[in-house]
Amino acid sequence: MKILALIASPRGMQGNTGRLLEEVIAGVTAAGGETEILSLKTLTVNPCVACDVCHKTGICNINDDYELIKEKLLACDGFILASPNYIWSVSAQMKALFDRCNGLIHCMALEGKYAAMVETSGGGEDAEVLKYMERFVNTLGANSVGGVGSPMAGVRTFPDEENLYASARTLGRELCHSIGEKRIYAEQDSFRAEFRVRMAGLVDMMKDYWPFERDYWAEKLKP
Ligand SMILES: Cc1cc2nc3c(=O)[nH]c(=O)nc-3n(C[C@H](O)[C@H](O)[C@H](O)COP(=O)(O)O)c2cc1C
Repeated sequence: MKILALIASPRGMQGNTGRLLEEVIAGVTAAGGETEILSLKTLTVNPCVACDVCHKTGICNINDDYELIKEKLLACDGFILASPNYIWSVSAQMKALFDRCNGLIHCMALEGKYAAMVETSGGGEDAEVLKYMERFVNTLGANSVGGVGSPMAGVRTFPDEENLYASARTLGRELCHSIGEKRIYAEQDSFRAEFRVRMAGLVDMMKDYWPFERDYWAEKLKP
C-alpha cells in the first residue's frame, strides 16, 4: 500500500508539522503501509498562471516539479497533506500546489483514493485549516479519512502530547485500513456528488476549449 506524504512547511520535516506527521507515518507503517515523503521545501511548485493548458492537454505548461508530484498522486493508494497554519490557512507552498491541481480537480481525478490531513499552529484555528484541506481532498474526488491538528507548546512539542500522538498514529492506521476495506464516507458523498455535477457541467460548457477534460469526462461517464 503506497502512501504519499506531502509536507508544506519551510522547515520540512524538522518543524512542528514534521514532528506530528512522523506520528501519522508511524501509524501507516504499523498498518503495513509504505510512505514516501515529499517536502515542498526541496521541490519547486510555482504559482498557477491560469494559462488553461492543463485543461486542454492534461499537462501543466510550467516547467517545475508539479508534474512529478501529480504522477505520484495518481499512482499512490492514499496521501497525507501536512501544513502549518499560516494566517488561518495553509502555507503558500501548499496553496501553490492546491492551485496547480486545478486540472486534477476539474477531472476529480483522485476518485477512489483516501487522504489524511496534518496541521500545526502557533495558537489555534486548527479545525478550520483541517476543514479547508479536507475540502481540497473532496474536490479531487478523494475520501478524507480525517485530520489531526494542534497548537504548538514549543519547538517540536505540543500540549497533551501523548494523546495527540496516539490520535496521529490512529489516523495513520485508519488511512491504511480505509484503503484496504475501500471504506465509504457517506457524509462526504453529497458534497462530492454535487461537485461532480458542477465539474462535469463546467467542462461541458468549455468543451470546445478544453479537449483533454472533455474526453476525460466522456470516458468517466461511459455507462
Ligand atoms: C508566516 C506565518 C504565519 C503564521 N500564521 C499563524 C496563524 O495565523 N495562526 C497560528 O495559530 N499560527 C500561525 N503561525 C505559527 C505556525 O503555524 C506554527 O508555528 C506551526 O507549528 C509551524 O509549523 P512548522 O514548524 O512545521 O513550520 C504562523 C507562522 C508563520 C511563519
